[in-house]
Amino acid sequence: MAEIALAQAPAHIRHGSNIGQPLTRRDGLVKVTGAARYAADHHPPGMLYGVLAVSDVARGRVAFLDVEAAKAHAGVVEVMTPTNKPALAQDPDEKTNPFMFRLDLLQTDRVRYANQAIAVVIAETLEAASEGAILLSPRYEAEPTRVGLDASESFVPPAVGVGHPSEVHRGDVEAGLAAASKRIEATYETAAQYHNAMEPHAIVATWDENKLSIDTPSQGLAMAQGRLAGLFGIPPGNIHIRSPFLGGGFGSKGFISGPQILGIMAARMVGKPVKLVLRREQMFGPVGHRAPTRQALRMGADNEGKLTALEHRAKTTSSTFDDFFEPAADASHTLYASPAIATSHEAVRVDTGTPLFMRAPGEATGSIALESAIDEMAEACAMDPLEFRLKNYAEVEPISGKPFSSKALRDCYAQGAEHFGWERRPLAPRQMRDRDGLLVGWGVGTATFPAIMFQAEAKAVLRQDGSGVVEIGAHDMGQGAWTALAQIAADGIGLDIDQVEFRSGTSDLPDGGIAGGSAHTATAGMAIYNAGADVIARLAGLATDDARSPLFGAGNAGVIARGGRLIRRDDESRSESYADILGRAGLAEIAGQGKSAADQAAQSTYAMHAHGAVFAEVKVDPDLGQVRVARVLGAFAAGRIINPRMVLSQLRGGMIWGVSFALNEQAVMDPRSGRPMNPNLSEYHIPVNADVPSIDAIVVEEHDPHVNALGIKGVGEIGVTGTAGAVANAVWHATGVRVRNFPIKLDRLIEPRS
Ligand code: MOS
Repeated sequence: MAEIALAQAPAHIRHGSNIGQPLTRRDGLVKVTGAARYAADHHPPGMLYGVLAVSDVARGRVAFLDVEAAKAHAGVVEVMTPTNKPALAQDPDEKTNPFMFRLDLLQTDRVRYANQAIAVVIAETLEAASEGAILLSPRYEAEPTRVGLDASESFVPPAVGVGHPSEVHRGDVEAGLAAASKRIEATYETAAQYHNAMEPHAIVATWDENKLSIDTPSQGLAMAQGRLAGLFGIPPGNIHIRSPFLGGGFGSKGFISGPQILGIMAARMVGKPVKLVLRREQMFGPVGHRAPTRQALRMGADNEGKLTALEHRAKTTSSTFDDFFEPAADASHTLYASPAIATSHEAVRVDTGTPLFMRAPGEATGSIALESAIDEMAEACAMDPLEFRLKNYAEVEPISGKPFSSKALRDCYAQGAEHFGWERRPLAPRQMRDRDGLLVGWGVGTATFPAIMFQAEAKAVLRQDGSGVVEIGAHDMGQGAWTALAQIAADGIGLDIDQVEFRSGTSDLPDGGIAGGSAHTATAGMAIYNAGADVIARLAGLATDDARSPLFGAGNAGVIARGGRLIRRDDESRSESYADILGRAGLAEIAGQGKSAADQAAQSTYAMHAHGAVFAEVKVDPDLGQVRVARVLGAFAAGRIINPRMVLSQLRGGMIWGVSFALNEQAVMDPRSGRPMNPNLSEYHIPVNADVPSIDAIVVEEHDPHVNALGIKGVGEIGVTGTAGAVANAVWHATGVRVRNFPIKLDRLIEPRS
């Protein structure tokens, strides 16, 4: 085969023009017309309904279940309990790697948290199964429960987040504080939050001998397949997972959860397909959550307003039986320059389900504390908080000492401030009122999120009819992967998007990696891009080796793939269609493969992050303390933008989460029972349209040559960061009251300042 020089220029130049287009969601029509079938929409013949019975107590054991009463109920087929559940090939409490989370699969009568599954009732109808679950009338031997940040003795976790060290420091914080002319010290608390995607966890499971077929939402198909293979003792290839649509994931669908697996066990037990869907309140326990935090920050600054020291200590909770530690203090590693930085974590064990990755895990919690503290430091220095940030943001990543692969934060600050009108902001608080007498305040926060790459594989096929197929087991949880990845696919093989069949969302396709860590577009996109390059190289080899092709001998010059043709790079008048090349070679189609992974050399050289600046305006009723967000504007730089429409939507969504973090979301735990007291969407508050009247994002141009060949960073989670702090800081600016407990509630604002 002739030598082909392909990867000389960025893909959008080399190939086509699909990348960068603001296409509407390709799955939009099927979604809005109801034609999209989500997991729970499936009804295979003979299907039964599984309903979880969950624990009312948070700690103890189940002493009695009235299985007889449940089984006697019309329509009830079976009751699955710890005594009769099907055997598993692996102990659900076994943990062979840090990201294999322990599961509650009815292995014993122990209760480790409220809403833990204690039985599954299987019936001919949903109603019968639900009624059967009530008839179980469980009795418990309950033990005293421990919830909250002071519930038990604290310890230093072995690692936080994804295996990061608990304690990190550089320089001498005490010396830095001693040398400072201004110092602040403040403690912030963030509430527990529960993943509440619109679509609860759901599964329809069908066994055929030792083959398992499931419809269930997944942010990580291959991982789920592997986990199930281990638990059921069957080869991964025997497990077919379909997950074409997810009604949101938020991190809670990254690992297959206990309740989903109970649906599979139920199907095995009765020998029929079983559907199991979590009720909303059952989302508050077994499928992960964001743990509460208490974060103590100390900072010092010199006479010039430059930081001399930054200390960030975070306390969080984890379950009694597993390890996940919200890496809140890590937020202070990358953003602000200080000659001395120290971060640390401690944790307590409580009687809740195991916390888990929840949108911007660590970054979100850490950001609201850090951004609040930076504002308090700016206030102590009598400086405008934006000016203070411009003076102190890091040019080189402070903890690692690595230069950033690219950083357009200054442009984000500048463009955001200009669009927001920041220059008209009075320095002192309580200076602005609107016509109705409401206090008005403006706040700013810096956004940042790491640019991560996982591993993925893809396959690309060119067919003689001029069409193409790209396959990857990727995940669209509403973020637009089915659109953005198809755009990369089309450019990767030099076709228009309408000529490409993009197959995604099932486990029989090449491993698309994980839709998490804001890394999916980069990870899956690069695998797709590389698969495209591979098939184009193979096709080009056919042409450039063939004396009958106008591309004959073009090998060293290279070719461009565009519009279904290969074009000689140094002479665009010489080209040939894919159809002609394949036809002459007598091939119906030609296939290529691609992989993606982080570039280790680049990773060890550069710190890779997306950046942004968020500005918020709030109005506070001085009599009632009610806070309303009037507008939020974020400017974000996140490398190459594959689809500006999807990206703006993701950024806006992230900013709404930030507003939610600052003002709304809180799981209230009853300290006596250990139960969440607001496990529903009427009392677990999330912002609705009226809560965020104006929200907008600006995409700041950025070219990052190091993150990956396409220059893609993620946008899924960065919007949360910066925003929550900007809202909190705006509340201070409106009222002069610094609320350090999140979400901010009105009682804090009507109380006299202490
Ligand atoms: Mo996310 S918490 O990276 O799914």
